[in-house]
Amino acid sequence: MAILEQSAVVAFEELASTLRHHGAPETLVRRAMIAAEDERRHTAVALRLCAEPELPAREEAQRAPLTLLELARLNAREGCVLESFAALQVAWQARSVAAPQLAAELAQIALDEASHAELAWDVDAWLATVLTPEERDAMELVRREATAELPAFERTAAWLPEVGLQAQADLRQLRAEFVATLAA
Ligand SMILES: [Fe+2]
Ligand SMILES: [Fe+2]
Repeated sequence: MAILEQSAVVAFEELASTLRHHGAPETLVRRAMIAAEDERRHTAVALRLCAEPELPAREEAQRAPLTLLELARLNAREGCVLESFAALQVAWQARSVAAPQLAAELAQIALDEASHAELAWDVDAWLATVLTPEERDAMELVRREATAELPAFERTAAWLPEVGLQAQADLRQLRAEFVATLAA
């Protein structure tokens, strides 16, 4: 969890600079920077819960800014689909976990992740105003492909039941409802 949260910090910092590079509305840039701060907090929470509260130093790769189409693909996959589903999973986890403090922390993380997912959909809406119709159609396909990848990202009860991770069957149902809602 700590490693995933830490890589989300970098992802949102890159999102903010990419949005700024392409002249996106300042509110989107600001929300991406706030999201990076959220992810920094989530990393700290995860590390506090860790038996080994140390992470390898993170890579500071200076990447060339993404093109609009690259940004759209990444946002459609990682944000609109994966982060939306992650928010649902953590919300479920927060309700299932027994320890009250952990439940409260997970509930806050779920709210933050939901706002990040919302940001992805708002970035998607802005991109729709600057992409061609063909490129917009391609994003639909990217999202559909990403939903097919969801099973690989599921954290199940078989892994760590004491932190509120759901049983495989429940998770499958959550995913089915999410995919149906997206399709609708
Ligand atoms: Fe997070
Ligand atoms: Fe997030």
